[in-house]
Amino acid sequence: MENETLTVIDNRTQKTYTIPLYKGTVRAMDLRQIKTGPDDFGVMTYDPAFMNTASCQSAITFIDGDKGILRYRGYPIEQLAEKCTFLEVAYLIMFGELPTETQLKDWVDNIKYHTMIHETTKKFLEGFRYNAHPMGMFVSTVAALSTVYAESRNVHDPANRMLQIHRLIGKVPTIAAYTYRHSLGYPYVYPDNDLSYTENFMNMLWKMVEPKYQAHPAMARALDILFILHADHEQNCSANVMRSVGSSLADPYVCVSSAAAALSGPLHGGANEEVLKMLDEIGSKDKVPAYIESVKAGHGKLMGFGHRIYKNYDPRARILKWAADRVFDVTGRNPKLDIALELERIALEDEYFIKRKLYPNVDFYSGIIYQAMRFKPEMFTVLFAIPRTVGWLAQWQELIMDAEQKIARPRQIFTGHEVRNFVPIEQRAAIAAKA
Ligand code: ACO
Repeated sequence: MENETLTVIDNRTQKTYTIPLYKGTVRAMDLRQIKTGPDDFGVMTYDPAFMNTASCQSAITFIDGDKGILRYRGYPIEQLAEKCTFLEVAYLIMFGELPTETQLKDWVDNIKYHTMIHETTKKFLEGFRYNAHPMGMFVSTVAALSTVYAESRNVHDPANRMLQIHRLIGKVPTIAAYTYRHSLGYPYVYPDNDLSYTENFMNMLWKMVEPKYQAHPAMARALDILFILHADHEQNCSANVMRSVGSSLADPYVCVSSAAAALSGPLHGGANEEVLKMLDEIGSKDKVPAYIESVKAGHGKLMGFGHRIYKNYDPRARILKWAADRVFDVTGRNPKLDIALELERIALEDEYFIKRKLYPNVDFYSGIIYQAMRFKPEMFTVLFAIPRTVGWLAQWQELIMDAEQKIARPRQIFTGHEVRNFVPIEQRAAIAAKA
């Protein structure tokens, strides 16, 4: 459109610039022409934490945070969670369309073909201390796969990329399950490719001496739904890390490992573990009002609440609440649910949370479900990382194929010293004391 522009007047020079708008955005490089003179670098944008900056164009996931909408490739999350298997959604996220029956069969076969990990990688895992955090084991072991598949560095070869994608999606449940068995001191269970993706994961987690593991169908379906809800979430902290590391053309194993490291933080995927700690700390329903008051007084945050993008209910939290009931039908009700529901009820009526548009996010209910399924809180973020590997890899594919992308390299506003002369060591104490 002709008038899709901004007119900028530089009050320093009185010059006027016409800056084009593209889909409601300004290209930061278009501001560089705004200068006071030939020696001036030009205007930059300053946006700590990317509060108002698009770093890429993406066709994978759409979120309308004000309306509480989440879609993968145009399909509402509610429909996908109800009607699809996780690997069907993984195909959709990766390739842009839902698979035909043949495409799905080939995709599932390809993933299953790669569920085993090399025995040396198994031994690598065995080297962790008995109480190592599962997320630390996961991050390190995924990175270690880079040493097993050296050819993965050839990131410009599409067939090679797809092979690593199959491997990573196939192997992350195996690594995750082995971190769990390791923390319990149990022997590792090899994958069983007769089973579905989530059933096989459950097999590797929980098989003991029975000859063939039988997953409870309702539990396997609940895990499938949890995986679908966690598969991608556009340019979140870990996706941004995946793209940033990927932009240096590092291999996909170290990229996924870096993204998983970002996920582990308590403000991101690590929040599900923190929610359980918080519910333990609160202890009972009657202590909820006092806890909320202490959060409002600035003592910590309500974990599992708030989101950079959602300023309305997180649609994933709504589906999780529904899935929780299906799981509790099998496992019995997790008593923590009552504390969580009370916390949600009081917070949603409270001026502090209403004003800041703070609602439960995906991590608020997922931990309660995982705990009912007998997972320890330390495993929760690993459970998040398995499905999110699909999203990270789709974001990575998009990045590599995007001709506009280059190595990610932000600018800075330098706030340090101007040039100054070297100070010999015997003269430094006085300077340090002055500072
Ligand atoms: N509890 C209490 N107050 C909160 C919370 C919370 N959970 N979240 C935000 N606020 C307050 C902030 O203190 C701030 O208040 P102020 O305006 O008086 O200073 C205001 O709400 C805005 O918060 P920001 O920190 O500016 O929001 P931002 O978009 O940077 O942070 C985040 C989003 C990190 C998710 C934040 O809401 C948070 O820390 N939540 C708890 C951790 C959590 O659940 N993380 C999981 C997110 S989902 C995911 O990553 C998978």
